[in-house]
Amino acid sequence: MNQHTRVSQVPIPFIDLAAQRKRLGGAIDEAIARVTAHCQFILGPEVHALEAQLAAFGGARHAISCASGTDALMLVLMARGIGPGDAVICPSFTFCATAEVAVLRGATPVFADVDADTFNVNVASAKKAVATARAQGLNPKAIIVVDLFGLPADHDSIATLAAAEGLFVLDDAAQGFGATYKGRPLGSLAHATATSFFPAKPLGCYGDGGAILTDDDALAETIKSLRVHGQGTDKYDNVRIGLTGRMDTMQAAILIEKLKIFPDEILARQRVADRYGQGLAGVAIVPKLAPDCTSVWAQYTIRLLPGRRDALAEALKAEGIPTAIYYPKPLHRQTAYRQFLVADGGLAVSDRLADEVISLPMHPYLESATQDRIISAVRKACGN
Ligand SMILES: Cc1ncc(COP(=O)(O)O)c(C=O)c1O
Repeated sequence: MNQHTRVSQVPIPFIDLAAQRKRLGGAIDEAIARVTAHCQFILGPEVHALEAQLAAFGGARHAISCASGTDALMLVLMARGIGPGDAVICPSFTFCATAEVAVLRGATPVFADVDADTFNVNVASAKKAVATARAQGLNPKAIIVVDLFGLPADHDSIATLAAAEGLFVLDDAAQGFGATYKGRPLGSLAHATATSFFPAKPLGCYGDGGAILTDDDALAETIKSLRVHGQGTDKYDNVRIGLTGRMDTMQAAILIEKLKIFPDEILARQRVADRYGQGLAGVAIVPKLAPDCTSVWAQYTIRLLPGRRDALAEALKAEGIPTAIYYPKPLHRQTAYRQFLVADGGLAVSDRLADEVISLPMHPYLESATQDRIISAVRKACGN
């Protein structure tokens, strides 16, 4: 600390990966050393061990690890044969990868609106998106739902809509893996669930990584083939077109150690979220958990009246407190995506949220005193 820096200005990390690294220290080093000793860097024993543990954790028959969360989404669409002429319904208020994979497959994303309370897809709007797709001569094949910021989507209503419309449900749990919906873990709620182990995610590795969870035996087999170039039983007779989409053994070894402390970290994240909720209720709109749900709080995202968040971000920055805007533009407003369809009735909530949201530092190692500093700074900046 510079001697002129006031304690109240010591920079606070947005996500403190170093604190977790300190906690796990030796265990991670030993896990990496085991891999460098056995040298099975691709699909080594740790990959298979991790997959068994992820399947158990997510309540699915199969977990297939892969190179990233985006590959996880992509591999599922590939395995389902989704392509030109097909529509994939997805929320507009999400990270681009959710819709990107549909476009990469030659399919058409059709954007649905979200609910302001949970930030997740609004099922009535998703239903309209299905009708919009059909009216344009497209074949609605799948819906990709997102558990944004770690908050579970309304999975029962989505399942009902999907059954009525014949849609395959792919849960993009990149931000939500570890959360539960009505007592059931994400991983067990959709036909397939994709997650990301990007370092900043609640369960992150030390590079890129992802996984797919499913109960569908045939889908799991196809995905395993696709992640290795579409290989068949004979390694040099490729039976389909695939990718180099595997997870490195080193990342699997790291994730095995991180998964051991993940349940404890989820509880710590909930404690941080509760403290924010109590400290900020009344000065901002704080996120609400749907009944019978738990969140992993990938982000703690509050809402302010339009036009007020830039001043808050500036005031916090001056106190050494970082913030982030997830997301300043919904997908249907972005250059690469604005050519695609939106559900009839428009996406007013997605547009509004993009002007209102601001995310605060959130990680399991955020100490109460530091968090209180953040809460006071937000209250002060908001005139309370
Ligand atoms: C909602 C969502 N979907 C997909 C992804 C893609 O994951 P990855 O960065 O591992 O490819 C992310 C990652 O930021 C995400 O937040």
